[in-house]
Amino acid sequence: MTVLDTDAPRFTGRPIAAEKRLGGAERARRMRDPGFGRVFTEHLASVRWSAGRGWHDARLEPAEALTLSPAAIGLHYGQIVFEGFKAYALPGERAGLFRPDLVARRLQRSARRMAMPEPPAALFTEAVTELVRADRDWVPPERGKSLYLRPILLATEAHLGLRPSAEYLFLVLAFVTDTFFPGGVRPLTVGICEDYVRAAPGGTGEAKYPGNYAGTLLAAEQAHARGCDQVVWLDARERRWVEEMGGMNVFFAHGPAGAPRLSTPPLTGTILPGVTRDSLLTLAPSLGLPVTEAPMSVADWRGGAADGSITEAFACGTGAGVAPIGTVRSATAQWRMGDGEPGALTLRLRETLLDIQHGLAPDPWGWVHPVSPR
Ligand code: COI
Repeated sequence: MTVLDTDAPRFTGRPIAAEKRLGGAERARRMRDPGFGRVFTEHLASVRWSAGRGWHDARLEPAEALTLSPAAIGLHYGQIVFEGFKAYALPGERAGLFRPDLVARRLQRSARRMAMPEPPAALFTEAVTELVRADRDWVPPERGKSLYLRPILLATEAHLGLRPSAEYLFLVLAFVTDTFFPGGVRPLTVGICEDYVRAAPGGTGEAKYPGNYAGTLLAAEQAHARGCDQVVWLDARERRWVEEMGGMNVFFAHGPAGAPRLSTPPLTGTILPGVTRDSLLTLAPSLGLPVTEAPMSVADWRGGAADGSITEAFACGTGAGVAPIGTVRSATAQWRMGDGEPGALTLRLRETLLDIQHGLAPDPWGWVHPVSPR
């Protein structure tokens, strides 16, 4: 066992030998049309934690199935948190991690909320860097495609008393992605959920906790059956205020045409603090688009779309990027955003962010962390 000095963690292990790696033609075939969440890379970074020993056994290994006790606390009581962020091809050989520092901090906050040990930022960065180096060939060169990195922290102790685990496994896996929504950049139809709530004050809504996502699946299935791409979640108290979409945040563009501005619901403790959301709060003003964090009621959204004062709406998240909303459905009404097509401001923000992520535009905020090949 290696006990890690977390200021300088060292990953050991077994990167796959060059002759045993997937051939370039097969890799290219898999990467051609990756969609979201199904084309996984060849390696996995893993680190263990146990009470008394702390973080230890940092490894880079072939991505294989896990061995886990059927009594693992995480399986039964859901003591698990995860993250999601991306590496983009930069000009030349390097790949760029987008805001890994902010992601590491959010993982630490989520872990705290679920009574788990917080992976140190240096350990997080090292795990991700090792994985991206080993799987550099899986970072797609095309604009808009990327390598999605999925860190997960999981309670592994075999014990079914209801208490925090004394053992954890921290993993980082990766998959290739282009678009989150089938069909690429197109106007989404979103459905307001009036039957269920995603998060309540004091709950786990602002943590990246799997239960927040599992709890949305039934509503998502029902929304799909009514022709919707995503569910819009409302606040639990009044069922009146727009919060987020379960897998992404939401923004609105307000007129008049000559002086547009944006708004997004404030982080009240029940909304996931999205990294794309945070980036747009900084990026938009630099493009002359002021942004406020302001509540939006369903009635005001509908009224604003009808009288033209709300000109565009879009979803944003790591998986989705910036995704235009074309149509909104509630139980009793349906309305269109503008002419129902992707709005100009939405597309401008989407493209500007992609330029930064791919190293094609200045990055004054230091968001992109390049990883060089070894
Ligand atoms: C992401 O946008 O990356 C997320 O983690 C949301 C998940 C539902 C795919």
